[in-house]
Amino acid sequence: MSAFGALRLPRTILFGNGQRGAIGTTAARIGARALICTDARLAATPEFAIILADLHDAGVVFQVYDQTAPDLPIESINECIEQVKGFAPDLVIGIGGGSCMDLAKIVAVLLTHGGDVRRYYGEFAVPGPVMPLIAVPTTAGTGSEVTPVAVVADSERGAKVGIASPYLIPVAAICDPDLTMSCPPALTACSGADALTHAIEAFTTAARPSDPRLTEEHVFVGKNLLSDHFAKLAVFNLFRYLARAYRDGSDREARRGVMLAALAAGCAFGTAGTAAAHALQYPVGNRTYTPHGDGVATLLPFVMQYNRPARVEAFAELARTIGLGEGDDESLSERFVDEVAALLASVGIPRSLKELGLAEADKDYVAEAGLAATRLVKNNPRPLDLAAMRAITYAAFDGDREALRDA
Ligand SMILES: NC(=O)c1ccc[n+]([C@@H]2O[C@H](COP(=O)([O-])OP(=O)(O)OC[C@H]3O[C@@H](n4cnc5c(N)ncnc54)[C@H](O)[C@@H]3O)[C@@H](O)[C@H]2O)c1
Ligand SMILES: [Fe+2]
Repeated sequence: MSAFGALRLPRTILFGNGQRGAIGTTAARIGARALICTDARLAATPEFAIILADLHDAGVVFQVYDQTAPDLPIESINECIEQVKGFAPDLVIGIGGGSCMDLAKIVAVLLTHGGDVRRYYGEFAVPGPVMPLIAVPTTAGTGSEVTPVAVVADSERGAKVGIASPYLIPVAAICDPDLTMSCPPALTACSGADALTHAIEAFTTAARPSDPRLTEEHVFVGKNLLSDHFAKLAVFNLFRYLARAYRDGSDREARRGVMLAALAAGCAFGTAGTAAAHALQYPVGNRTYTPHGDGVATLLPFVMQYNRPARVEAFAELARTIGLGEGDDESLSERFVDEVAALLASVGIPRSLKELGLAEADKDYVAEAGLAATRLVKNNPRPLDLAAMRAITYAAFDGDREALRDA
């Protein structure tokens, strides 16, 4: 790996039980009129009422948009912009899962630069700084609180599309594990598995030569010396705590461990990027209407099996990180793929795309559309062409990792 390190992060990251109590004072330092993007679930809770009272006490005037829909359909964005006309915020706060935080990011872009959402699709299409953002996650998974990307479901295109720009990074991320205590087991699994996928993809993504233009030319710059540190913390914590948080949602220590992992994974992939599992999830989600986390995690062991020959050392390093002990790199890297598959199965992630609900007739579409996600495909550690995407998709459909062993 070239001796290059990069991190793009929020100016402030707060983490810990009770840190949601810092939202009011943090907001007051940044602005005076806050637009709050959340969803109907959180808006109906006593915790949310306390956060609003806290903002009020800090002297912040606010308006709440509480109709964010899961997976952020484009209609939700337009409706929010329509509703806040005339309020003139100088700060946007996203509180909720990835969908609410991504809505806040995009609304900040639109309120600052105007125009249609589609204008900003892709990398570096946001022309300049946006209204300051505060992100407060209530799931432990997406890492959106620290990342330079927001994901939209565009119903006209029938696809999920990313808006990636360093200007989207929130000014402050406030992570309070107590806000995740109410996540039901399936949501805990799906968002935690998304975080595991972020960490592993970031740790194994293609590294680029150290070049002073690297961070100007790519939003996601590849594996590097600084993002690796966060990826390892995330993998360590997820192996230690995810199954515990899934089995017993009231386990505060496990909730804290998983949320720290999700945050760390966001710090890793927000600079390094993700790869094939994320590329293939877009078409899978589009055909199966399954959550993002379930899709990437179902694909992950198969993508890893395909990538393993190109990343033996990195997988062996992660195997040591989770305490798999002694052994040569070759066997440790194999065991790490097995352990990832076992952890995901233990939290109820489907073992195949078939089990996830993909139709057999959609396999080729998934492989082709996955390959079209060039932003992600270019990051994969092992080169991908249509034959490779087909091999991964077919093996994932059948739940047959053996089929990829000699691919
Ligand atoms: N921007 C990024 O960096 C990034 C990274 C990965 C994924 N994403 C995007 O994030 C979205 C997924 O986010 P998500 O997995 O956090 O889910 P989500 O925001 O879509 O929410 C899913 C459901 O969980 C509920 N929920 C949220 N918090 C809860 C809690 N504490 N208790 C009970 N229910 C709760 C919500 O009300 C909603 O019904 C997708 O659109 C995905 O594409 C973004
Ligand atoms: Fe993800």
